[in-house]
Amino acid sequence: MKLHQDVCEVLYTEKQLQQRVAELGAQITRDYQGEEVLMVCTLRGACIFYCDLIRHIDLDIKLDFIATSSYGNDTKSSGEVRLTKDLSSPISGKNVIIVEDIIDSGLTLKYLKRLFEARDAKSVRICSLLDKPEGRQTDIEGDYIGFTIPNAFVVGYGLDYAERYRNLPDVCVLDPRIYAK
Ligand code: IMP
Ligand code: MG
Repeated sequence: MKLHQDVCEVLYTEKQLQQRVAELGAQITRDYQGEEVLMVCTLRGACIFYCDLIRHIDLDIKLDFIATSSYGNDTKSSGEVRLTKDLSSPISGKNVIIVEDIIDSGLTLKYLKRLFEARDAKSVRICSLLDKPEGRQTDIEGDYIGFTIPNAFVVGYGLDYAERYRNLPDVCVLDPRIYAK
């Protein structure tokens, strides 16, 4: 596919993403043998990753969805995380895997992990497609990470800038001129 005019580089192609997502699914399948797992999708950025990932997990899984907001239309976290949509069911006694698109400051996941632990989940792990360790402001680490990336703003495969570009099939670096405007 032709490079979108607002991006300057493809970081991971559709094919590379599919391969890595399959590996993550296989790893989760091995680690949770004989267990039930609740896969929690963080809306909206993780939705495409999530749909691909769950089809590579060969376990008894259930699905739920949660949404937070901290970015608005900016490329930097506001520092304050808000829950905009809660889970549909209680998670007490359940193995939970939070599926995220990217860990940057770590504030979103710190908030969610604490929330789920306070609700007495049996275990809480984090599976994130991307990790930007340079942006970290907390001690949060992912348990399953697709790719570790440098400190650039990326879009595509579910990731957005101001709600745009989620439908690009590859993970791409957004041209800084777009958010400098
Ligand atoms: P954190 O709370 O700073 O770790 O941010 C996590 C959320 O910020 C992610 O779920 C994304 O929605 C968003 N985010 C962080 N970095 C990027 C990026 O490079 N592209 C798009 N969204 C990002
Ligand atoms: Mg986002």
